[in-house]
Amino acid sequence: MLPESMTVEEAIFTRRTCRRFRKDPVPDDVVQKIIDAARYAPSSCNLQLWDFVRVEDEAAKARVAEETRYIQLAPVSIFVAYGNNYTRENYAWVQSAAAAIQNMMLMAHSLGVASCWVDTLGDVERLRRILELPSEREILALVLFGYPELVPKAPRRRDIDILLHYDRYKGRLNWPSSDDPDEWSLEQIRDFQMAKIRNGARYNKPVPSERDAVLAALRQFVRVDEARWLDVLPLTGLYTEEIAKAYPRARLTFAEMTDQVFEFVHDRAPRPLRHERYPEAFYGGDGGFDVMSLIFRLEGFPRGERRRMLSAMRERIQDDGQLFLAFVNRRSYHRPLRWLRGRVGHAGVEYALAPDPSLGPFKAVTPAEVRQDLRAAGWRVRASRHFFAVPPADEIEFRAGRKGGKVKMAGQTLTRVSQMLRPLDGALGPLARIHAWDVIPA
Ligand SMILES: Cc1cc2nc3c(=O)[nH]c(=O)nc-3n(C[C@H](O)[C@H](O)[C@H](O)COP(=O)(O)O)c2cc1C
Repeated sequence: MLPESMTVEEAIFTRRTCRRFRKDPVPDDVVQKIIDAARYAPSSCNLQLWDFVRVEDEAAKARVAEETRYIQLAPVSIFVAYGNNYTRENYAWVQSAAAAIQNMMLMAHSLGVASCWVDTLGDVERLRRILELPSEREILALVLFGYPELVPKAPRRRDIDILLHYDRYKGRLNWPSSDDPDEWSLEQIRDFQMAKIRNGARYNKPVPSERDAVLAALRQFVRVDEARWLDVLPLTGLYTEEIAKAYPRARLTFAEMTDQVFEFVHDRAPRPLRHERYPEAFYGGDGGFDVMSLIFRLEGFPRGERRRMLSAMRERIQDDGQLFLAFVNRRSYHRPLRWLRGRVGHAGVEYALAPDPSLGPFKAVTPAEVRQDLRAAGWRVRASRHFFAVPPADEIEFRAGRKGGKVKMAGQTLTRVSQMLRPLDGALGPLARIHAWDVIPA
């Protein structure tokens, strides 16, 4: 017998994306009811060109998992496909499929079954072959269902008065489509980060070679014990976590912009940290810090803000203190690679963290402009290291990995070339992608 369902209103306001499911199976009649709800969604011209492929066979699951590991998370996984051959206008096929997916998720929730809508699918052409879908059936999403082990808290919603317009667009807080931070206001950056942070999701880690390089430089430059340490804008807290581990007696504070990021960093940290809100508490906050760190964050802010930030940091550090700074150098393979990504993949604002930590706008900087900004703010560079004049193999693998055959092959060739060039890495310093600097008050 089916469990009792809840009201539509309750279902809409209490549904959550679940990413940790129990293993218990979902009874067939419940799954049937979920699919039935999909059938009753509106569709463009009532064509109902959807297909739902439930993947149960373990061998098929294993093949799908090579493209999207999400399939391993839940007992029920259903691919949603829609015919694209009659309904291209205004993306009507996407709209129709999305309506069905939402119906399924609300019905599931009202029956006590949690769900996750997944668009991280890897190579959809390969998935189409695995699922034997014809070429006009477009795969839109994988939807997972199961009984929840952990239901995340509701991510904050943008306020109605930001989203709702009367008669004409009022233009507030629209995000630029450029990823150049000079086109973003602080308020927009904050708002974007807030919206992008997924509850319960852990960000991708940076490629290990990058993390190891940064940490090696950190340990070489910063040799302190009980220092007062301010980690500026750590974003996901990935390096904050590493700092907390490598300097167990340091008294760490971090400055960030939103509650979502506060939670994120606190979750990662192995011990309680202090935090302060950027920019409100950061500017004019207490002085007396022995160490500060600013790791891959200059790239995310408009130049004027970067200068202001560095000046405020200078005011808050002890005269014998030090700043550990790491950044991505624009005069490196970063730039051609970005250009290429715009052609092969997506152009525009990305939020995937690795390997460029870019939750929001991101523009690599040049060593000359960083030097200038530091000097203007009263800092000087005492020592520097650089890494990766040629891309490390794990970065190439990361970037090429999920893009399908041709890109993968190009990636493998590039790996061989870059391994041949590796001995030149030291000599090509100014062209290295990552710079780590030891900076002190001038
Ligand atoms: C089109 C679409 C694609 C999504 N893809 C993913 C995904 O690949 N992985 C994931 O964990 N969540 C994914 N989600 C879930 C969103 O992250 C989630 O809906 C959002 O954070 C709001 O949380 P809530 O669903 O609990 O309200 C997707 C949602 C939509 C609508």
